[in-house]
Amino acid sequence: MNSIYKNPTAPIEARVQDLLSRMTLQEKLGQMTQIERSVATPSVLKHLCIGSLMSVGGSGPREMAPTSEWAEMVDNLQKAALESRLGIPILYGIDAVHGNNNVYGATIFPHNVGLGATRDAELAERIGVATALEVRASGIHYTFAPCVAVCRDPRWGRCYESFGEETEIVRNMTSIVSGLQGQQPEGHLKGYPFVAGRNNVVACAKHFVGDGGTDKGLNEGNAILSYDDLERIHMAPYLDCISQGVCTVMASYSSWNGMPLHASHFLLTQVLKEKLGFKGFVISDSEGLDRLSHPYGSNYRQSVLFAISAGVDMVMVPFRYQLFLDDLTYLVQSGKIPIARIDDAVERILRVKFAAGLFEYPLSDKSLLPTVGCELHRKLAREAVRKSSVLLKNGKDPKKPFLPLNRNAKKILVAGTHVDDLGYQCGGWTATWDGKGGRITIGTTILDAIKETIGGNTEVIYEQYPSAHTLASQDFSFAIVAVGEAPYAEFGGDSQELPIHFNGVEIINLVANMFPTLAILISGRPLALEPRILDKLEALVAAWLPGSEGGGITDVIFGDYEFHGKLPMTWFKGVDQLPMNAVEKSYDPLFPIGFGLSSKGEVL
Ligand code: GLC
Repeated sequence: MNSIYKNPTAPIEARVQDLLSRMTLQEKLGQMTQIERSVATPSVLKHLCIGSLMSVGGSGPREMAPTSEWAEMVDNLQKAALESRLGIPILYGIDAVHGNNNVYGATIFPHNVGLGATRDAELAERIGVATALEVRASGIHYTFAPCVAVCRDPRWGRCYESFGEETEIVRNMTSIVSGLQGQQPEGHLKGYPFVAGRNNVVACAKHFVGDGGTDKGLNEGNAILSYDDLERIHMAPYLDCISQGVCTVMASYSSWNGMPLHASHFLLTQVLKEKLGFKGFVISDSEGLDRLSHPYGSNYRQSVLFAISAGVDMVMVPFRYQLFLDDLTYLVQSGKIPIARIDDAVERILRVKFAAGLFEYPLSDKSLLPTVGCELHRKLAREAVRKSSVLLKNGKDPKKPFLPLNRNAKKILVAGTHVDDLGYQCGGWTATWDGKGGRITIGTTILDAIKETIGGNTEVIYEQYPSAHTLASQDFSFAIVAVGEAPYAEFGGDSQELPIHFNGVEIINLVANMFPTLAILISGRPLALEPRILDKLEALVAAWLPGSEGGGITDVIFGDYEFHGKLPMTWFKGVDQLPMNAVEKSYDPLFPIGFGLSSKGEVL
């Protein structure tokens, strides 16, 4: 008789219980283990019953590998896993946080801070749908997204991964979960994981909870606030994700009032699982257990004890899996971790795998390959870039708007470090973990887009680093200067001063002193902008980290589309004001959260 767990028409909970009842302790612990693809040999997958694989940022078949090679790589690993005694398929996860950003040629959407500027939940959902297709095309089933952090301080290196500073903005944008996983049908059991089909992916709401509220914005720091404020400000978006059937939640590296999230039974089990009714699985962050320190882990075995007991169900090891399995086996066999905790974790993992249809569709669907970087998705990304661009100034004299620019001007200067750099406009989590400059994938830089937009008789002069000498002898109708931040990720982005990188202020100064100038800031957050700089500019646009479709910026600066964006973060006057959120009495921003102009100079 065919096993119940192999029967796709059987109820998920029956399949879960049937399979669980057949599993040995080693197989159960294997399912709780997520390892990096580079250590996943066929033998390890077959004999250790590993539950999940992942790619750390940039880890794939080879540099600039096409999607088909990703699909082949994942399928080969999956086939090895299906050779295991019970044939439990692996769940392969990756950080597809703004498109399938590790994969060459994938559509790169604006990072979350830009999506927050759109305030457009329906757009976010459509981006989720497109991202899911491009992820499944690569054979991958699971994305560690969305980050639903509420970033209260732009000094945090992961500000750009947050939809914004206010809970309501983030709550609104969690609609991306329904895009990634598919729309949950009416009557779907609350809190239970949902994935519509093989064109959708398992999503991951992260990083639970309070990652964006740490003291001084320090990454992996300590959020010091009452439980009521933690729940009101940082936990609310998780309720929206759970109500959409989010399959997984990732624990945060950070702490709450000194308690590391990875060791917090109160928050991971009593609140998330019991109070909020979350029935998917909790995954640790990468080496999240290794980062526990005394008294939550004077050694790794202690850390395993704290984290699994707190409610972590799957551990993103991702390399030292034998040590993890040895320690966890000891802890269970010595009774320090009850088998009931293991069974709860494995039930949750299996529940997600059955909900995701993994047993029915373990391998990639080659018919999805043409969706990767397709015209439709690039148009969607371009729409998102348009809607995320925030017009902060338009005309030294508001009665004389500077934008839209004249596309038939005689001669224009296009200058700055970020005007022709695809890697800079994509930012971190693109091609590699913390991103890099240059033509890192297929896309359109701002300069490419300007050349596509302007009239045939307009001369465009490009100067990455303009000098007074080269400019003095020239007469330009106007100048467009794009500057901003170099790509970064996590700790690499923590900044107390929030400067414009590569002497961007000097570039703006030099050009704006000589010609009417529009400045475009390519950054993951508001940056330090002195009023004297602002006064010199005719116009200023915050374009965040727009991704591969730079044409969305020319769409609005040349007037083919109206500006739509509103600040998702407060734009401070000076870093000494931080943290500064609209609810404080001392709220004295350069531009308040929600600010944005139309090209006619009206406040949106
Ligand atoms: C990182 C990040 C997390 C990411 C994970 C896997 O350290 O904190 O957001 O999903 O590791 O790359």
